[in-house]
Amino acid sequence: MEKRKIVVTSALPYANGALHLGHLVEYLQTDFWVRYQKMMGNDCVYVCADDTHGTPIMIRARKEGITPEALINRSYRARVKEFQAFEVGFDLYGSTNCDENRALSEGIYLRLKEKGLISRRPVEQLYCETCGMFLPGRFVKGTCPKCGAADQYGDGCEVCNATYTAGELKEPYCAVCGGKPVMRQSEQLFFELEPFRDFLRAWIPAHTDAATAGKLLEWFNEPLRGWNISRDKPYFGFPIPGEPDKYFYVWLDAPVGYMATLERWAKARGETLEAWWQDPKTEIYHFIGKDIVRFHCLFWPALLENAGYRTPSQVFVHGFLQVNGEKMSKSKGTFISAATYLNFLPAQALRFYYACKLNGSVDDMDLNLQDFTQRVNSDLVGKITNLASRGAQMINKNCGGKLGQMDADSRALLGTFRKQLPEVLAAYERRDFCRVMVFVRAWADQANQLFDAKMPWKLVKEDVEATRAVLTGTLNLFRLMAIVLKPILPVYAGRVEALFGEAPYQFADAERDVEACTISAYDHLASRIDPKAIEAMIAASRENLKASAKTLSEKDVKKGIRQLATKPAEAVFPEPLAPEVSIDDFAKLDLRVATVVAAEPVDGSDKLLRLQLDIGEPRPRNVFAGIRKSYAPEALLGRQVVMVANLAPRKMRFGVSEGMVVAGTDADGSYCVMQPLAPMTPGARLH
Ligand code: MSP
Ligand code: ZN
Repeated sequence: MEKRKIVVTSALPYANGALHLGHLVEYLQTDFWVRYQKMMGNDCVYVCADDTHGTPIMIRARKEGITPEALINRSYRARVKEFQAFEVGFDLYGSTNCDENRALSEGIYLRLKEKGLISRRPVEQLYCETCGMFLPGRFVKGTCPKCGAADQYGDGCEVCNATYTAGELKEPYCAVCGGKPVMRQSEQLFFELEPFRDFLRAWIPAHTDAATAGKLLEWFNEPLRGWNISRDKPYFGFPIPGEPDKYFYVWLDAPVGYMATLERWAKARGETLEAWWQDPKTEIYHFIGKDIVRFHCLFWPALLENAGYRTPSQVFVHGFLQVNGEKMSKSKGTFISAATYLNFLPAQALRFYYACKLNGSVDDMDLNLQDFTQRVNSDLVGKITNLASRGAQMINKNCGGKLGQMDADSRALLGTFRKQLPEVLAAYERRDFCRVMVFVRAWADQANQLFDAKMPWKLVKEDVEATRAVLTGTLNLFRLMAIVLKPILPVYAGRVEALFGEAPYQFADAERDVEACTISAYDHLASRIDPKAIEAMIAASRENLKASAKTLSEKDVKKGIRQLATKPAEAVFPEPLAPEVSIDDFAKLDLRVATVVAAEPVDGSDKLLRLQLDIGEPRPRNVFAGIRKSYAPEALLGRQVVMVANLAPRKMRFGVSEGMVVAGTDADGSYCVMQPLAPMTPGARLH
């Protein structure tokens, strides 16, 4: 069969919010599908990125007193670590705030403009004079025009579920400063959709599921409204070429971020964006949640089509996560962040459970924590993994770690499993992971029955060779399950590969028997979930709520916005600058290159390291540096650092410090010691 060429994306998570278990419904199912495609031998690339632009990010950064760039860098690092922990295997995880994205967004916009598809219209919007900005719907509150409920947001009422625009709210007030906003007019740019009514009406049902298409097509009973793609300053985003003080609305450059990230990935391999996106053989798939279909099935295809790019092959829409049958709730502790989950539970347990529940439909999905515990403990650990742990441990203990030939019953059972493989792979292809798991669980049951019937623990006392045959069978049956589970449990499958001393599994390996070879020691594959860990996670999630409520209080936000109104964007630094000094003041500092000749922790201090610094003097200097949380002493040994050599000696509890090491504090509070780019002679002066 010919290799398919496939580009896959997940929606780009907002850089300002923490990843939670709801998001993971999307990233995990996309990852399952991508890994399946790769194991089929297809050329599949999975890209995603932080969605970095927009008002909320700008406001949050100002509130913290840092630049939006510093905020998105910090968020990016945390994000990448979390995805890694959850075994999500992006080919590239990028950022919408990159040069490729700016160039592509501008290019797309200019092409639309050339074709006369961008129009200008005055828009009346609520403007807060205190805050100096137009207020997006989420930043206005007031009384619902339909039911009269007080304190509702500008985009919809949480009491009667009515949707409306912020301008329709009765008695509106600024959610940031509480002031009364005024209606103000400003000219905005629109991408008109009505001319593409026929194109979209045909495109939508052909490129997404029936339920989603049905909902979208309801919009077609009226003229399609143009899409406002511009925002006034202050805004964190890309400036619109030729339009002073206007920026692209975040939702314009966000989907373009798919292409930008693909382009970065392609360039790193010496290829081009066009060779992937524009190749008619390439299949392009977007995985998204049901809340953002309008952007992906209406604006996005119209934008691409008119800018001369291919539109996606299919948009896969999924539903929302519920926990214990209800919407995730902060006060119930079921709004669980990815980071909190990882503090208490193994990532692969969630992957396993989500796979059991996902069937490729747009229905909401329930994470029932009791069911989760039970499925992981009884199916993954009790049934599936148990085959490997018992089989491998017995072989190692009683049969010298050597596999023989399978007994006839195991071989027959393996044959039946293999016959079902095409059905299993078809289920993967249509994202029906739940069906895949039904097969695996049934196989595990049958393999366990066979194992119990053969009673190898008894047999071993009479006939070692017969036992070897049975266990060889057990392990081959297990191995087949591990191969089928690999897209869902890649780290787990990696340990199984190591157990059998095999190269990374492809689905084709399922057709091979493993016989007459030596296996490695059994490495632990999966742990049971202790219900206490679940309770602790829920309690911690409630605590998080309190903590985040504290950092995100309206007062803080107000302060941020006021700074926003008074400070020019460029003047925001992590720390205010110290008073000016003259060149002579600076020259008083004697900075030297020093080599670390000894480094050790200081007893009685969890902050300090004791360093011996060679600056070419007869005796190294003794310096205490408060950088222990960021460096193991060994990591510094032999390295060069920058030292303030003429600092007056300071007597400390642990001894005299004869200088200071120059280090920076990063945005996350960690330290970074400064070092010369190339080795220098110890004692060289810096100026
Ligand atoms: N930044 C936009 C997407 C831009 S794509 C060009 C965005 N970000 S998000 O962080 O709010 O959501 C990212 C993805 O996670 C979306 O597809 C969204 O539907 C999905 N989910 C967010 N919360 C979810 C649940 N509670 N349950 C399931 N999926 C959820 O939207
Ligand atoms: Zn205000």
